[in-house]
Amino acid sequence: MSSHGDPIPMTSSACGPLTGTAEVPGDKSISHRSLILGAMAVGETTITGLLEGQDVLDTGRAMQAFGADVVNHGSGSWSVHGVGVGGFAEPDQVIDCGNSGTGVRLIMGAMATSPISVTFSGDASLNGRPMARVTDPLTLFGCKAVGRSGGRLPMTLVGAVDPVPVEYTVPMPSAQVKSAVLLAGLNAPGQTVVIEAEATRDHTERMLAGFGAEISTEITDEGRVITLTGQPELKPLHIEVPRDPSSAAFPVCAALIVPGSDVVVPNIGLNPTRAGLFTTLREMGADLTYENERAEGGEPVADLRVRFSPDLTGIEVPEERAASMIDEYPILSVVASFAKGQTHMPGVKELRVKESDRIDAMATGLRAAGVTVEDGLDWWTVTGLGHGNVTGGATCASHLDHRIAMSFLVMGMATQRSMSVDDGGPIATSFPIFEPLMGKLGADLRRN
Ligand code: S3P
Repeated sequence: MSSHGDPIPMTSSACGPLTGTAEVPGDKSISHRSLILGAMAVGETTITGLLEGQDVLDTGRAMQAFGADVVNHGSGSWSVHGVGVGGFAEPDQVIDCGNSGTGVRLIMGAMATSPISVTFSGDASLNGRPMARVTDPLTLFGCKAVGRSGGRLPMTLVGAVDPVPVEYTVPMPSAQVKSAVLLAGLNAPGQTVVIEAEATRDHTERMLAGFGAEISTEITDEGRVITLTGQPELKPLHIEVPRDPSSAAFPVCAALIVPGSDVVVPNIGLNPTRAGLFTTLREMGADLTYENERAEGGEPVADLRVRFSPDLTGIEVPEERAASMIDEYPILSVVASFAKGQTHMPGVKELRVKESDRIDAMATGLRAAGVTVEDGLDWWTVTGLGHGNVTGGATCASHLDHRIAMSFLVMGMATQRSMSVDDGGPIATSFPIFEPLMGKLGADLRRN
């Protein structure tokens, strides 16, 4: 089932060269944070290039329920009139975060140090995902949480009346957990310290600094030590959201495997905590270049130029790179299927608790398409067949996971036989224009 409606079965078939310009939507991580931090600032934050995917729209609706005035001015242009740190009102309805782990976890952090009670829920995928990783540190601030067994949604959080600042070492590489703690620290007096052993995406830190919070990051032997001074007055900002590297990954990888392709994907955010896939693809022999490298809104940005690459080879993906490409392993496993030799991907336990168990979802579909995949708890290996040799012909389950659906549809653009997914509906959570955008480049995508 699609998260919002009936399933949308889709099929993708081999196509001619993909050519042209792929203008992918705004960054999902930055879009969520723009709405949440805008709601916690005093005055009006303006945003251009906001991702208008279902996940982000659900976060916007939630901020409205907390008392912020969230207005859509059309064409990705939005404004948020914030209520200030500690100014959230108690919503009078359940906060439904749909499919979005980022949405629910960041909003939990943002409300945990305000004296309000909030009940959170989501779709079947989100209601199955672990929330204790967020509520454990939030209870240290004085917040209480009661949910279903296994720390799952639906769940009610009772925010701290007298919050205390905390020092917390994040036990897994998770920007969502780190961000939840930092957002909670905003309304706690004194300094909240978050320590992460492995660097994860740092948009929250960059944006908090942009909104005027006192925040610093020190690199130590323990990892990154982030110190935030609580109870600042956040000043509203104008935010230009860069385009999402995680969405860019789909046209980029499609162009690599479809013969004759030559595609430009402009204006892509290349924050080093996000760009690991592109480094990996180049190591595999991808013809992928960065053009017009520049900085926009505090984030590095470039235009990506990608051409069909018939001689890709499998590689060992360094474990320490995992956090910087965690959302890109599904589509990397597709590219690895068209490479020669093995691509080994270690250190990826987190893939098992995303919108779906992404190792399992991809391994099942790849095997059905004729590719050999081995996997363990925190690793997997794809044995590539080389360009032109991947059979395809499988119908794969999306498991309410946008990136699984898009990965198999990209795969079908270069397999001998078409690839189908049982439900393309979840694609709308992060990449609502995927179908027309890929179609314009030359892909043969159909709703069955
Ligand atoms: C995100 C963090 C990552 C990522 C997700 C977006 C964020 O999740 O997978 O798509 O915006 O903070 P984890 O924090 O669970 O690694």
